[in-house]
Amino acid sequence: MSVAIDHVLEETRRFTPDDEFRKLANLKSFEEFERLYKQSLEDPDAFWGKFAKELHWFKRWKRVLNKDNAPFFKWFEGGTTNICYNCLDRHLSTWRKNKAAIIWEGEPYGERRMFTYLELHRLVCKFANALKNLGIKKGDRVAIYLPMIPELPIAMLACARIGATHNVVFGGFSANALIDRINDAQAKMVITADGGFRRGQVVDLKGAVDEALGKCPSVTNVIVVQRSHTPIKEWVRGRDIWWHEVMEHASDGCPAEELDAEHPLYILYTSGSTGKPKGILHTTGGYMVATYLTSKYVFDLRDEDTFWCTADIGWVTGHSYIIYGILANGATSVMYEGAPNYPTPDRFWQIVERYRVNVFYTAPTAIRAFARWGEGWPAKNDLSSLRLLGTVGEPINPEAWMWYHKNIGGGRCPIVDTWWQTETGQIMITTLPGAMSTKPGHAGLPFFGVKAAVVDEEGHEVGPDNSGLLVITEPWPAMLRTLYGDDERYKEFYWSKFSKHGWYFTGDGAYKDRDGYYMIIGRIDDVINVSGHRLGTMEIESALVSHPLVVEAAVVGFPHEIKGQGLCAFVSVPVGTVPAERDKDVLRDHVAKMIGAIAKPDQIHFTEALPKTRSGKIMRRLLRDIASGRDTTGDTTTLEDYSVLARLREERET
Ligand code: WT7
Repeated sequence: MSVAIDHVLEETRRFTPDDEFRKLANLKSFEEFERLYKQSLEDPDAFWGKFAKELHWFKRWKRVLNKDNAPFFKWFEGGTTNICYNCLDRHLSTWRKNKAAIIWEGEPYGERRMFTYLELHRLVCKFANALKNLGIKKGDRVAIYLPMIPELPIAMLACARIGATHNVVFGGFSANALIDRINDAQAKMVITADGGFRRGQVVDLKGAVDEALGKCPSVTNVIVVQRSHTPIKEWVRGRDIWWHEVMEHASDGCPAEELDAEHPLYILYTSGSTGKPKGILHTTGGYMVATYLTSKYVFDLRDEDTFWCTADIGWVTGHSYIIYGILANGATSVMYEGAPNYPTPDRFWQIVERYRVNVFYTAPTAIRAFARWGEGWPAKNDLSSLRLLGTVGEPINPEAWMWYHKNIGGGRCPIVDTWWQTETGQIMITTLPGAMSTKPGHAGLPFFGVKAAVVDEEGHEVGPDNSGLLVITEPWPAMLRTLYGDDERYKEFYWSKFSKHGWYFTGDGAYKDRDGYYMIIGRIDDVINVSGHRLGTMEIESALVSHPLVVEAAVVGFPHEIKGQGLCAFVSVPVGTVPAERDKDVLRDHVAKMIGAIAKPDQIHFTEALPKTRSGKIMRRLLRDIASGRDTTGDTTTLEDYSVLARLREERET
């Protein structure tokens, strides 16, 4: 399959960080970046060795990178360390001992808790002992199915402390999703809560666990956090134990286990569009060094900063940039339990104002929702503490980027558009805010030690401004090590397409502009062939979103007798707007003007909302089914709001 795309939206806007930002930044100039980048590729041992030494190791590594058994790479071979020690203990001998590590805000108003590094350390040690008391040993897998409450990072860090491998399952998943993940990981224990809050409602987590465990023979114990204080339907004696009870009897002295750099730290499942979920396995040393370093340079962390990543810890973004990378830097991490629009659409901005958040990291889907709710909501709050913004998760439409820049960043904050994946573990392509200018919709350049290329099917690099397949041509420290229990599938899935070259295939299409900046087009499955022209859905969506009538757009292909594939656009409009039939022509003409007549959607559906996964990605597969008049047969367990799908289907039928 080729992803050459025939039309590309021109982006000429540039934003350069102001002098003050630059002066204080961890990396102050492009020259400095170039020097370090060059070193990171030419002498990775020296480069990674230098930064790894900023962290604590029980035993120094013998080799930074072992490539002998590709694609099974080893980083910091021979070294021993502990990531929990580096996130907590390392700071206790410094002034950071009494600095806030985590600031937690609950969804119900007025609930908040603050944990200093010392206090977090104490709780993690206690819980680590509780795990040991229940027979959890180094190498065991522990499933964690919790809402966004402090017990979640405490449980993760406690596992890491004793060398148990955690498997966090997003609290919004169903019992079915839980069964697959627990069984694949063969988890011995599940950590959950009675219930979690979401938009004022209680989600019955313990109920889902009970339902799942009938089919999960590997689990011997369930630890239950009392969060919602709602009645528990079933309590299995001998299996179920309250969190507060195990904590009561546990001592707070628990030395961090000395672990091999390649010791499995966690498994995180990602749902592919086909087949069973993939258990991405991350290990200790390389992941630790790379999340530490990316946090420091991409988010330009300073000791006085308050950092807030709005992701759920159920996704990799939360693992790397709420917990591990951020705490390894000794920074303050904000964690919020609830929905962005509960009880009002400015809940996020209230949190920014209350904690004077300085660095804010969110997803394009959230930004488009904020835009839809209107600029009045952020304007009600004081956002002047913000100095740097970030985005991750999907390509950001340039208009959404501009909205974010103006309405949240006050026109003064650089935006880092960070491209990476669950598999990569760390940010891979981005700008570094003090050293580079930014362009809306362009992720930027490969991070230190990352070597990327845009190639055609045969592996030839395509020229500037031509799109192709995004590959990573050298191993990087936080890379996945395998798919849990399935080395063959790991090789097949990521390394077989360019096996001759030994490259990692990302599954994304991209192009590189004349400055070397990468623009990510999205998953290659999202490229549509209309009358022999290959169109990227992303740029048609961006053209639609640049019209005032449109807040969010998803474009998919459907079988078309004449053109091969036709274009179908699902479009959501600003709150309170009632679109008319003739607006469809207005939008078609607008796309024709922006891109060309070839990109005019054949069908346009106005809708209140688009079907999304719980991590905020538009579920194009479902939209493709609707556009083609097919019934949806695939896996919908990751869908966030089923009613959106039902309404879209009804509209099609009427
Ligand atoms: C896919 C990975 C990594 C954390 C969240 C998602 C898309 C991610 C960007 C970006 C364009 C992006 C890619 C990638 N993606 N960040 N800045 N610009 N696309 O993790 O669920 O593993 O998804 O998300 O398509 O392959 P994930």
